[in-house]
Amino acid sequence: MSAPSPRPQSDIVARLRAAGCVFAEDEAQLLRSAARTPAELAAMVDKRAAGLPLEQVVGWAGFCGLRIAVEPGVFVPRHRTEFLVRQAVALARQAAGLAGPAASGSRRLVVVDLCCGAGAVGAALNAALDGVELYAADIDPAAVRCARRNVGAGARVYEGDLYDPLPATLRGRVDILAANVPYVPTGQIGLLPPEARLHEPRVALDGGCDGLDVMRRVTAAAPYWLARGGSMLVETSGRQAPRALETIARAGLIPRVASSDELNATVVIGTRPARPAARKSAAEAGHDDRAGQLAQRLARQRDLGTPDAAADHHP
Ligand SMILES: C[S@@+](CC[C@H](N)C(=O)[O-])C[C@H]1O[C@@H](n2cnc3c(N)ncnc32)[C@H](O)[C@@H]1O
Repeated sequence: MSAPSPRPQSDIVARLRAAGCVFAEDEAQLLRSAARTPAELAAMVDKRAAGLPLEQVVGWAGFCGLRIAVEPGVFVPRHRTEFLVRQAVALARQAAGLAGPAASGSRRLVVVDLCCGAGAVGAALNAALDGVELYAADIDPAAVRCARRNVGAGARVYEGDLYDPLPATLRGRVDILAANVPYVPTGQIGLLPPEARLHEPRVALDGGCDGLDVMRRVTAAAPYWLARGGSMLVETSGRQAPRALETIARAGLIPRVASSDELNATVVIGTRPARPAARKSAAEAGHDDRAGQLAQRLARQRDLGTPDAAADHHP
């Protein structure tokens, strides 16, 4: 879009700079290119100067080369989360035995973007992987509204608590479970920049006492949704990773961590073993089943905040 306003660029830059915008020149240029009328530009400059994230002001965020629509009040996809996407793409290709785009005769991969927010991760996976069956879900209605605009034709977006709204037919079929869950420890929310603290919903940020509450809930149920050889991927901080990996291992998944200095990103990965443990006796198989039931019961208790939950927080 062409610049709509006679208002000098220097005025806008000065206003943004006074409001504390570090990249005032770049932001001014972006606002001018996004606004369709001088009145719209003035309103956008006001909102940005008042502290609204730039992406919420212009209505989109760049992510993996895509434009992701973001409404005010919805979590803005972070650049670092592109690392989770890269890891997920590599695992998806591995899972399908692909060297690139879908080979003929391959079954369609099932991909779930849990805690999808505006759907950036799902949209990027849909764009990078040919012909996947994509499902996304989030508890926040505004996020779900954005995700429906972003994830691409054919994808399904559900509203609800974690796995609750997903079709039961997905159980045991998910190849890639990407979950960029909230992971800021409650006590550190106050230290976040005002853009996040004041303009992104608490439910998108607050991961509980150590930041891993939602991650633990996602992990506890992941073995029941993942296909054999399928993987869950969750972004954490570097400091949280060891505890997150323990949680993954306890759930019976093969744990692994990947990190990127470039993007300052850490992703913990849990893979469901490709084959059942070899030659199990009937008694062992029964034990497996009981272990599964126990894990489900623990996950439910955790949700209810029983003493087991406290034990899990402080293993
Ligand atoms: C850190 S944001 C990430 C959003 C998105 N995945 C991204 O990377 O841009 C976390 C998201 O988790 C959602 N969320 C938090 N608790 C949830 C729950 N119990 N069930 C479903 N979604 C939840 C929030 O609404 C928010 O959109």
